[in-house]
Amino acid sequence: MTHRDAKPILAGIPLPVMLIDTDYRITLTNPSLLELFGHDPGGMNALTLLRQAPVLAAMDTAIRDGQKGNARFIFNGLSGEVVYEFQASPLTDGSKVTGAVLSFEDRSQAEDSEIIRRDFVANISHELRTPLTGLTGFIETLRTTARNDPDARDRFLEIMENEAHRMNRMVSDLLSLSRVQADERVRPRNLVNVAGVVRSVIATLEGKLKDASVEVATTGLSEEAEVMADRDQLIQLFLNLIENAIKYGGRGKTVHVGLSQVPQDATLRMPAFRIDIRDEGDGIDPLHLPRLTERFYRVDDHRSREMGGTGLGLAIVKHIINRHRGRLKITSNQGVGSCFSVILPAP
Ligand SMILES: Nc1ncnc2c1ncn2[C@@H]1O[C@H](COP(=O)(O)OP(=O)(O)OP(=O)(O)O)[C@@H](O)[C@H]1O
Ligand SMILES: [Mg+2]
Repeated sequence: MTHRDAKPILAGIPLPVMLIDTDYRITLTNPSLLELFGHDPGGMNALTLLRQAPVLAAMDTAIRDGQKGNARFIFNGLSGEVVYEFQASPLTDGSKVTGAVLSFEDRSQAEDSEIIRRDFVANISHELRTPLTGLTGFIETLRTTARNDPDARDRFLEIMENEAHRMNRMVSDLLSLSRVQADERVRPRNLVNVAGVVRSVIATLEGKLKDASVEVATTGLSEEAEVMADRDQLIQLFLNLIENAIKYGGRGKTVHVGLSQVPQDATLRMPAFRIDIRDEGDGIDPLHLPRLTERFYRVDDHRSREMGGTGLGLAIVKHIINRHRGRLKITSNQGVGSCFSVILPAP
């Protein structure tokens, strides 16, 4: 088969592909390759076109040694840097190498998710290490200096218990985050009464409200508002948001929970229900707002840790809302309070 006969075959391949002869001259290209380079490099010398040492070495491996050569090819396109897995496979006629097939596979997405995965593992390790270091330190102290000091022992044991609880919470939050992410693409199929869910969440939080001397004021909760939802996830969603409002709203303050109907949501482009959870806390610096729903993100690391926070609550909230095809809107006025609005499409 001559290189020319391969043209229709190459045209059917979605990857950018070209053929070269033993002089590295480009003899054939396909449409995806034209798209990648923005022009047809047919007839050019591949050494001039590709010019990156690892790529040139991979081509040599194919043409000189008759073996497959691989390399990373970094392409600087209009929309930034794209990483390709470059492969040069020898073409042979009997035992003689007649040229090579060069292909480019876009690896940037795979590399991105690899980076995200690595960061995630690094984050978890870091988050778990802090309480573990604390625990190890206290065990050491209990063995030595605090050995015969019952007061210190009780104090340390209490701190240790808190740290252990926090680690426990982190692990269960991570599990629920991964469960929520796993079925993020599965549409919820039950009609759920939102007001009912919110009312039962508030009832569950009674103890916490009392402990923090926080009142809840509700509006619109008598309304008939049904959405397509996963009831357990909605409970988790409002539990996280109302808990935050209690925690960060401050002692003796009021948390306002309001349900209303939106005839047409501008972003969702459909009728929706909106649940506002508003507190009277210190508010959040606008600087932090875009990152608030990231895993492990805490505005005041120290304060949140002290309250047993893991920084996973809002990440879970975001994924639950995504699954329900809704949106989360956060507004905050420093010194006045914050408002977390959950907007869910009406069925
Ligand atoms: N209502 C609020 N007012 C002020 N800051 C808030 C409010 N809600 C959340 N934040 C900030 O956003 C951060 C992330 O919230 P998130 O719920 O994800 O984590 P957390 O409350 O620290 O821990 P967790 O919910 O896992 O116990 C918090 O640490 C806090 O700094
Ligand atoms: Mg929280």
